[in-house]
Amino acid sequence: MDRVKDKNWAEEVAKKIREKVSIVAVRNQNKIPYTTVDGLFNDMSVENVCWWTNGFWGGMMWQLYNATKEDIYKENALDTERKLDQNLMNAMGMDHDSGFKWLTTAIAHYRLTGNQESRNRGLLAANDLAGRFNPVGRFIRAWNENVPGKTIGWAIIDCMMNLPLLYWAYEETKDPRFMQIATIHADTAEKYFIRGDGSVNHIVEFNPNTGEMVRTYGGQGYEEGSSWTRGQAWAIYGFALSYIHTKNTRYLDAAKRIANYFIANIPDNGLIPVDFRQPQDPWIEDSCASVIAACGLLEIEKYVTEHEKHIYYNNALKLLKSLEANRCNWDTNTDNIVENCTAAYHDEKHEFAIIYGDYFFIEAIWKLTGQELFIW
Ligand code: GLY
Repeated sequence: MDRVKDKNWAEEVAKKIREKVSIVAVRNQNKIPYTTVDGLFNDMSVENVCWWTNGFWGGMMWQLYNATKEDIYKENALDTERKLDQNLMNAMGMDHDSGFKWLTTAIAHYRLTGNQESRNRGLLAANDLAGRFNPVGRFIRAWNENVPGKTIGWAIIDCMMNLPLLYWAYEETKDPRFMQIATIHADTAEKYFIRGDGSVNHIVEFNPNTGEMVRTYGGQGYEEGSSWTRGQAWAIYGFALSYIHTKNTRYLDAAKRIANYFIANIPDNGLIPVDFRQPQDPWIEDSCASVIAACGLLEIEKYVTEHEKHIYYNNALKLLKSLEANRCNWDTNTDNIVENCTAAYHDEKHEFAIIYGDYFFIEAIWKLTGQELFIW
């Protein structure tokens, strides 16, 4: 691929993003969107303020603010940050997804302005996340009691994306516990989640009293032993982030192994299914997996040798170009950009708009244009 042409392509897409989001941001002031209803964003600040995706709208606003310096984006991001205080004060509404919620909002705000209230929010969230660490199993507990009595020993691959909250807290406080908990969890994930072929499990259950590994689950993918694509994408990006924060090359090697598996399974059309081992019919897509993986590949590309760069870069571009050509909605009467996202294979509803599809698409395009605020 030709990097100059790719940059021009990304600049064109960035222009379309700025044009569309400038309208969408005004139409959705005071909301925290998750999905669309008849093309218009819903509002999770009314429906469920503790939902795990509630940071992505704020993150999207900070990415747009960083690129344009237009106040509307900052105002929307601050509105989300303040609303998430209801979550921060709700113990059972706190789970391992604090990274997704506060890195994208309060900590992005702190990084840009040094705001001390935002730093405080970030540290509260980091302490809560650290408190979920199980010392004998050496993992961070994922969820609360959504399956009664079952989830105390559950760790999930998605958590790799939440570890940067602990890396940030370590940088801020120099308290080594944050770094220790993050790296011990990453080591556990490397040992128990990554399979021999480079694919990853979604859920691993440990005995919370002895730490012994019990079993794996298919989670949001097709079945146990299958290959939920968004989980693979979280792992690619998550291990790359652990490398960026620690410089431990074992994490970069893990990210590359998972990325190599992902790349080998990208369909010819560049559009990603929900699970690489799902049945051929019906064929269900998850565009979120595509954009998250693209972000991870673009990070890996920065740290590998010259002769390996093309592998990660070219495949990131393949994913993004295919998505832009086939699954982006540029109609300004519709709130979302990215189409065909799927939360879980066995959900009734498939292929709809999900806010983190838009967030990671914008982040990936910003990585190519150099406008990114590094959130993680
Ligand atoms: N972190 C949950 C999901 O990816 O659906």
